[in-house]
Amino acid sequence: MGKLDIKPRNLKFALAGDDKRNWFAGNPVATAIMDGSSILFPVGETYFINAVVHFRDQVTDPKLLAEITAFQQQEGIHSREHRRYNNAIKAFGGDVDALEQRLRDEIARWDDSPLFKLAVTCAFEHFTAILADDLLSHPDFMKGADPEFSRIWHWHAIEEAEHKSVAYDVWNIVKPKGLAGYRMRTRAMRLATRVFLGQVHYNAAALLKARGEARGWRSIASALYFGLVKPGTLRRSLGVYLSYYRPGFHPWQHDNRKVIETYKAAYEA
Ligand SMILES: [Fe+2]
Ligand SMILES: [Fe+2]
Repeated sequence: MGKLDIKPRNLKFALAGDDKRNWFAGNPVATAIMDGSSILFPVGETYFINAVVHFRDQVTDPKLLAEITAFQQQEGIHSREHRRYNNAIKAFGGDVDALEQRLRDEIARWDDSPLFKLAVTCAFEHFTAILADDLLSHPDFMKGADPEFSRIWHWHAIEEAEHKSVAYDVWNIVKPKGLAGYRMRTRAMRLATRVFLGQVHYNAAALLKARGEARGWRSIASALYFGLVKPGTLRRSLGVYLSYYRPGFHPWQHDNRKVIETYKAAYEA
């Protein structure tokens, strides 16, 4: 069960304006990678909410029930704010609606049994928890970024970190017993890994092209630099990512309460 109070903060962010083009320190590739991720959230988070709430009546523990409600509220507000984010970036170029539809089409091909949907949600929540932890533990991650874009990503990161175990705690109650549960959980993680990396890559490339910022191998080198060197999230998160494949995994085995606490005061609504 969670180690932190899960507190929905109903905030809004001012992200529109032509001066925000290349908002990530003037770096079009870093901007496109973050924007390409943002495009996944409204559809993705709606999927997560539905997947978790489906099993609500099998939960009896009052603390976990309260956490499910808070999770639902946090993801609902994230989805709303990333919808606003995605509308704001339309002005910079790129068919945001088509990219979002691409994710819907992808999801339509998945096994839609409630248990598998929950396993997929746990896997994506591990990704968002990893990215959140990496952002919060490295204060220079968004150095030079537009303050409002930096604020929305930090706010989202705090809340993803707070609620990182909710889906997983529900999973532990309802999962198939023994090896079948482990197999389903890791199958979902392989799917989530392929889809997350594939969609972010596709979206970022499409946005760069539409924005007139695609520079061939220079863009590829810049994206690799972003992922592997600075900030280098992919490189430094590999160990935590792999921990998911351990049979006794739980999200709070990576206890990052301290780093979350250092940011919280700035975002209390
Ligand atoms: Fe979220
Ligand atoms: Fe989440």
